[in-house]
This record gives sequence, structure tokens and C-alpha cells, in this order.
Amino acid sequence: MDHLYPKAMGHLVMLAAVFHYSESTLSVSANPEIFNPGLTTKLTVKCNYVKNDTSTSSPSALVSLFLSRANNGSSDYEEFASLNVFLGQQVNLITQENVKASGAINSTGESFIALTWDSPAEDVAGSYKCTAQGPDHVGHSVVIESTVDVKSSAPGNKDLLSQIQQLDSHLKQVEATINLMKTDFAGQLVQVSKNDTHVLALNDQTAQDINTLKQANANSSSANMKLLLEAFRSSVFSREFNGPNATYWLSKNSYTDVRDAENLCKLYKGYLVEINSDGEYAAVREFLNRLDTEIYYVYVGATDERAENQWVYRSDGTPVQFTDWAINQPRPGPDYNCMFMEESLGWRMSAYRCTSLTPIYALCELS
Ligand SMILES: *[C@@H]1O[C@H](CO)[C@@H](O)[C@H](O)[C@H]1NC(C)=O
Ligand SMILES: *[C@@H]1O[C@H](CO)[C@@H](O)[C@H](O)[C@H]1NC(C)=O
Ligand SMILES: *[C@@H]1O[C@H](CO)[C@@H](O)[C@H](O)[C@H]1NC(C)=O
Ligand SMILES: *[C@@H]1O[C@H](CO)[C@@H](O)[C@H](O)[C@H]1NC(C)=O
Ligand SMILES: *[C@@H]1O[C@H](CO)[C@@H](O)[C@H](O)[C@H]1NC(C)=O
Ligand SMILES: *[C@@H]1O[C@H](CO)[C@@H](O)[C@H](O)[C@H]1NC(C)=O
Repeated sequence: MDHLYPKAMGHLVMLAAVFHYSESTLSVSANPEIFNPGLTTKLTVKCNYVKNDTSTSSPSALVSLFLSRANNGSSDYEEFASLNVFLGQQVNLITQENVKASGAINSTGESFIALTWDSPAEDVAGSYKCTAQGPDHVGHSVVIESTVDVKSSAPGNKDLLSQIQQLDSHLKQVEATINLMKTDFAGQLVQVSKNDTHVLALNDQTAQDINTLKQANANSSSANMKLLLEAFRSSVFSREFNGPNATYWLSKNSYTDVRDAENLCKLYKGYLVEINSDGEYAAVREFLNRLDTEIYYVYVGATDERAENQWVYRSDGTPVQFTDWAINQPRPGPDYNCMFMEESLGWRMSAYRCTSLTPIYALCELS
């Protein structure tokens, strides 16, 4: 039964199309007709109407165009967008979906409705039906229809591979530079060649790489970037834990500059951990206490670099809502403008330099 149902549906749709379809007067097309959610960056469905003076079975004057959609092989079409002579070029969108629409009714040329999705999600798939209405040559109202099926297909290994290969060399470079940023526990820079000049140069390169990745991530059309970041995630973060209000990811490597740590969090749409409540503080400290690795410092996303001892969150500049400074903290002065949590202080809060050779890890918060 499961197999028969969609087949039967397919025939019904075809019959309907043949019955109403009037030679190239009305057509609806999709580009592409099969898309990969997460990889396809753009999908367009376009309904076209060209007046045909020799046809007696189609409207001689177009009054309205409708585009409707039925999901999952159902025959319940829901109206999606419409256009009529009174609206002119103003497409009436009847959907909450994030879709761009354009269209025109043109009594002498081509009339159309075009819908465009950036990075279409799975539920954009369905059967799209275009309907044109208007009086025929003797004044009877006629309705003609045309349909197209838009299918979604899970990205196959092949699709993913080709996308990943395109950026693979870039990723390898980023991974290599991040690995080279590793510093040892004593605070000495460790690098395969033991050449500090070289390491410093690579740090600049990493900042650039992070910037490139960030830009690509900001491009809404780069859905593949999301997949790549996801693939890259396990080589950048070592642990995570879920709190009731946010998720926290701990970086695999340490960073000598708070801005590099911050960029890493931003790349993944997060920010350096911000402690807003007793409960969050307790949860974060418990997580840090459970670490069995040689991690002794994490950055907190707060700073007083604008005004001495006025601590604000780095992400939005609003005043810090919760502090639990360790004894003799925060130390005053321009050398102590960044906030940390320190293992040797029972993971309580301290102030220190925003840039130093001490290996400090990024704890990213994603809400
Ligand atoms: C217009 O309609 C006639 C009759 O249905 C058909 O034969 C002809 O191919 C159509 N012309 C165009 C350009 O579609
Ligand atoms: C209508 O179509 C004709 C012929 O294609 C074209 O020259 C004209 O600019 C169009 N008018 C509008 C308002 O789009
Ligand atoms: C289509 O069907 C699938 C599986 O039955 C379901 O998860 C999904 O929500 C449906 N989509 C829509 C738009 O109804
Ligand atoms: C360090 O690296 C730089 C740039 O690659 C190179 O010019 C220099 O000779 C290296 N120094 C040592 C001591 O290896
Ligand atoms: C982002 O999109 C803009 C405009 O579409 C393009 O010029 C730029 O090269 C893109 N950047 C990346 C990193 O893909
Ligand atoms: C979650 O948010 C509530 C309300 O802001 C707060 O009271 C609580 O401490 C938070 N808990 C954690 C673990 O973040």
C-alpha cells in the first residue's frame, strides 16, 4: 500500500496537467527540480503566462495568476502567492516562508510570478501548481493550470565530497595554523620548527583564515559553509556541555590573544562565555572542575578596557551582571583588562592581560 499510494498520486497529477494544459500558454518550471537541502544555495519556481490569440481554451485577458503548493504528494494545494490585474507587479505572498517574490501582469507580453528561496529547506519540496484565470474570447471565465514537482534529495556522499574538496586545502591550512598556535603549559610557544618568528607570522595568517571563514559564513548563500564548519568542529573543540540556557564548547587549542579566541566563538555564532547568574556560574565551574586535561585558564567574555573597573560584556558592551572575583582580584591597571576563570583559584574569576603567552582556552557560549 505504501508503494502504491505515491504512484497513484503521480498519475492523478499527470492527468490533471494534461487535461488543463494549454500549449505553452501557461507553464511552471523549477530550477533545479531536485535540490539538496543544505547544499543547494538557490531554488527558483517560475510561472509564466503568454497570451495566445489563437487558443480558444485559454483566457484572452489575464485577470489573475496563482501559485499553490501541495506537500508530500498530497492533493491539497495551498495557495502560496498570487498576482492580479489590480495589484499589477505586486505579488501577494501568503506564506511565512523566507522566500523572495517578483511578478508582473502584462496584457501585451509575458506575465509571471517568480519565487526564489536561498538555501531551500526540505519542506520547500512539493508539487507547485500555477493557475491562470480570465475571460475567454466570448467572455466565459476560464481557468487553466500547470504543475511541476520539486523534490528534495538528501545530499549524497558525492555531493558532499565535491563541496568539501573545493575548500579542503583551505581547511587543512586553517587546521595546521591553529595547531601551530598551541602553546605549552609553561607559557612557552611550542612550534615544530621552534621558530618564534615563524609562529608569530602564522598567528597573523590564522586571523586572516578565521576572517575568511567568517565572511563565507556570513554569506547566506553559503549553506555549504555550515556543513564545512560542522565538519571542522571536532578538530577545533574538544568538549561541550549543555546547560538549561545555553550550550558551551571548549576549544581544543589555546589562544594567546583574546580576539582569536573570540573570533573562534563568533565563527560558530557564539561568544566567549558570559556568566549571568549564580546557576550558570555553578554549572560552568562544575564543567571546568570535571576536566581531566591540562587546562588552567579560560577566557570570560568581559573586559574593563574602556573604563577602569567598569566591567562590560565583550559581545554587546552591557554591564557585567555577575562577578565572583578571587581574593585580591581584579588587579587594577591597563595590564589587567580581560576576565578569566583560573583553575588555581578554584575556577573563580581573575583579571589579566588580553594578550599573553599563557595558554588560555576559549569557552564559547551558544544560546
Ligand atoms: C496557441 O494555441 C494554439 C491552439 O491551442 C496552438 O496550436 C498554438 O501552438 C499556440 N501557440 C503558442 C505560441 O503557444
Ligand atoms: C510587456 O511585455 C512587452 C512585450 O514583451 C514589453 O515590451 C513591455 O515592456 C512589458 N510591459 C511591462 C509593464 O512589463
Ligand atoms: C512530509 O512528510 C514527512 C514524513 O512523513 C514529515 O516529517 C514532514 O513534516 C512532512 N512535510 C510537510 C511540509 O508536511
Ligand atoms: C625563522 O623563520 C624565519 C621565517 O620563516 C626564517 O627567515 C629564519 O631563518 C628562521 N630562524 C631560525 C632560527 O630558524
Ligand atoms: C560573499 O558574497 C559576496 C557577494 O555575493 C561575494 O562577493 C563574496 O566573494 C562572498 N564571500 C565569500 C567568502 O564567499
Ligand atoms: C538559567 O537562567 C535562569 C534565568 O536567567 C537563571 O536563574 C539560572 O541560574 C540559569 N541557569 C544556568 C545553569 O545557566
